[in-house]
Amino acid sequence: MPDDARARARDDAPGAVTEASPGPLTAAEGMDRAVALARRGPAYGPNPRVGCVLLAADGTVLGEGWHRGAGTPHAEVAAIADAAARGSDIAGATAVVTLEPCAHTGRTGPCVDALTQASIGTVVYAVADPGDASSGGGEVLRGRGIRATLVPHEGAHALNRRWLAAMRAHRPYVIAKWASTLDGRMAAADGTSFWITGEEAREHAHRVRASVDAIAVGTGTVMIDDPSLTARPGGKQADHQPLRVVVGHTDTTGKRVWEGGGAVAIDSRDPHEILAQLWAREVRTLIVEGGPTLLSAFLRAGLVDELNAYIAPALLGAGPSVVDDLGIGTMADSLRGQAVTSERLGADTLVTALLTEGV
Ligand SMILES: NC(=O)c1ccc[n+]([C@@H]2O[C@H](COP(=O)([O-])OP(=O)(O)OC[C@H]3O[C@@H](n4cnc5c(N)ncnc54)[C@H](OP(=O)(O)O)[C@@H]3O)[C@@H](O)[C@H]2O)c1
Repeated sequence: MPDDARARARDDAPGAVTEASPGPLTAAEGMDRAVALARRGPAYGPNPRVGCVLLAADGTVLGEGWHRGAGTPHAEVAAIADAAARGSDIAGATAVVTLEPCAHTGRTGPCVDALTQASIGTVVYAVADPGDASSGGGEVLRGRGIRATLVPHEGAHALNRRWLAAMRAHRPYVIAKWASTLDGRMAAADGTSFWITGEEAREHAHRVRASVDAIAVGTGTVMIDDPSLTARPGGKQADHQPLRVVVGHTDTTGKRVWEGGGAVAIDSRDPHEILAQLWAREVRTLIVEGGPTLLSAFLRAGLVDELNAYIAPALLGAGPSVVDDLGIGTMADSLRGQAVTSERLGADTLVTALLTEGV
């Protein structure tokens, strides 16, 4: 194949890498590269972000790929296609993958079969696949005489931290998000909450919305605030819009959340039931955006994994607090966040914390 045709074929290959690959890599450098490739995939959706680099014995990069979202080729298949487009011989090569290759047929075929058919000699993966159907790929490969080794890598784990937690818990990963004053008020006494925080904090929140599968609010917020709940980073509708979820018994027909489709009502007040319905819709990451009644229900049920609190340097003195009674009577029982971070956003501060163990 002439060089320019080969380059075009490579660019058209699923998950193909359009810029030059780095020079010879060790397996550890290959994993760093695979993580960087995986980051190009979307953080939302039912599938994890995965990257794959195919290395020759001398470390030459033979092919690279990453997963671009549900229904598109997995990273391993994309890397094999990239290698074919480059004209690389990958028999006996090492595949460095950020996640254990899948062993099942979902929207696409099993990666273990693609690696076997490509005569890959060694597979190094950084995270075991916790999926009920997709796990066990390492074992299958070893059974076929392919050296398959799990070599843990922090960056590869961090890449899919929320997805991994969701898969282990068999429910969406839940982020409780709110904007409050310094005295913990979510709205003023008259119900107004526009705007507690400034533009930078709101812009940040829109970017987070564009990276998750769904956003939930209670019917109270829909009736009082009438939010559209869309993701609008930079003031523009994001390409990916999370599913907008209205929780509760009240009929909210005619409110803005129903404009343009992409919204669903869940006529339940039970957080477990709500998460089960969203899991069935392939929601892996959910933001509960309030109001205080819904946030409190999720916290009381122990179903919040992460807190995202945007705190404004303002006082209200009256109005709804972020959470109602959580049934906590003494300081020793207080809910304490771990892995706490804080970030200044204009005049406001974003405090994030994890509430569940091991995520
Ligand atoms: N600052 C912020 O970040 C922020 C964010 C959101 C809202 N807010 C403010 O919050 C205020 C609204 O508060 P809110 O507490 O009424 O809002 P909410 O939590 O959005 O809605 C409460 C309603 O949701 C339904 N619901 C769903 N699950 C429930 C459960 N487990 N237990 C009880 N009810 C459940 C109930 O209505 P049904 O009768 O329909 O079942 C309930 O009345 C507004 O003033 C708004 O501005 C502030």
